Amino acid sequence: MSLYRNAIWFLNGIQQYTRSGYEVASKEFDPRDLDVSVVGRSFMITGANSGIGKATAVAIAKKGGTVHMVCRNKDKAEEAKEDIVTKSGNTEVYIHIVDMAQSRKVWEFAEAFKKQYPSLNGLINNAGCMVHKRELNAEGLEKNFATNTMGVYILTQTLIPLLQKSRDPRVITVSSGGMLVQKLEVDDLQSMKGYFDAVMVYAQNKRQQVVLTEQWAKANPVIHFSVMHPGWVDTPAVSTSMPQFHRMMEDRLRTVEQGADTVVWLALSRVASRTRSGQFFQDRKPVPTHLPLAWTHSSAEEIQSFMTQLENLSKAVQLQPASFHTDPSQLVDKHQ
Ligand SMILES: NC(=O)c1ccc[n+]([C@@H]2O[C@H](COP(=O)([O-])OP(=O)(O)OC[C@H]3O[C@@H](n4cnc5c(N)ncnc54)[C@H](OP(=O)(O)O)[C@@H]3O)[C@@H](O)[C@H]2O)c1
Repeated sequence: MSLYRNAIWFLNGIQQYTRSGYEVASKEFDPRDLDVSVVGRSFMITGANSGIGKATAVAIAKKGGTVHMVCRNKDKAEEAKEDIVTKSGNTEVYIHIVDMAQSRKVWEFAEAFKKQYPSLNGLINNAGCMVHKRELNAEGLEKNFATNTMGVYILTQTLIPLLQKSRDPRVITVSSGGMLVQKLEVDDLQSMKGYFDAVMVYAQNKRQQVVLTEQWAKANPVIHFSVMHPGWVDTPAVSTSMPQFHRMMEDRLRTVEQGADTVVWLALSRVASRTRSGQFFQDRKPVPTHLPLAWTHSSAEEIQSFMTQLENLSKAVQLQPASFHTDPSQLVDKHQ
């Protein structure tokens, strides 16, 4: 079954996720959708120093928005900020140094941000990674899970009260079409069982982001949540984490602006805010979250177990001193 899933996914990808896929899809875009001004509104973008995140920051700054860049590397962040300011002519660009893999630090940052700023109109969970070896963060969480899922969960949950009191609040999470090959796996969030396949761990995290978005949308009707696939985009993440794929697809990869287009559309356009909250987008359209006959659907119990585990891990991170090393296996919700 997984062979069938992967083959269907790749063939779909060649047609839709490439630069030519974008060119075909974009013929249906209405340029007036992005004829907006967001002066006075603020947007937080994680991983805003590179690739899709930086292209999103430039586009939002050009529309007058205040940009909060959340980056882990000060030098890279400052260099990117200079470029964003130059390209947009907007000086309302601020840097926050946070490693999204460090769960407690993410929570401390979000708490401090919530106290310091009166509003936040958009949160763009863009930072993502594919770490090829099984490594743990300070809290004992596997690093891909910590960055791609736990960091997104803690940041978003902590900022929800601030988003709720802001105008037209939106949360956009940059997932991946790669998640289509994975079913939510609730019994091994730390990838402790079997062979550690980073590509599949990453795809699992991206599936987790889709499930999280659906659950957030149900629980928080005031905020518009969406999750999206940017297509296959020529960025450092692809050339360093998947060098073979990058070499094979190099001429067909999307530009960062093409990859960021749907993020920007979801963050800024009025049309996007009128779509149903909680959906998965590709090229400005909601698309299915499962391949036909792929057996990737989860039961209500599995989803509940996943959400409970995230909440338990998040509470453990908040309650304990910074040096605390969580034993995640103690926090697993035994749903069966
Ligand atoms: N490119 C694609 O084809 C593609 C396809 C599907 C989904 N995506 C998703 O798109 C998003 C953006 O990636 P990209 O392709 O634009 O790659 P990129 O240019 O390498 O950008 C990734 C960004 O995430 C940041 N980041 C990674 N780990 C972090 C951490 N622990 N704390 C803070 N920031 C961290 C990186 O910071 P540093 O610069 O310091 O490393 C960088 O700013 C990711 O979520 C990725 O999974 C990309």
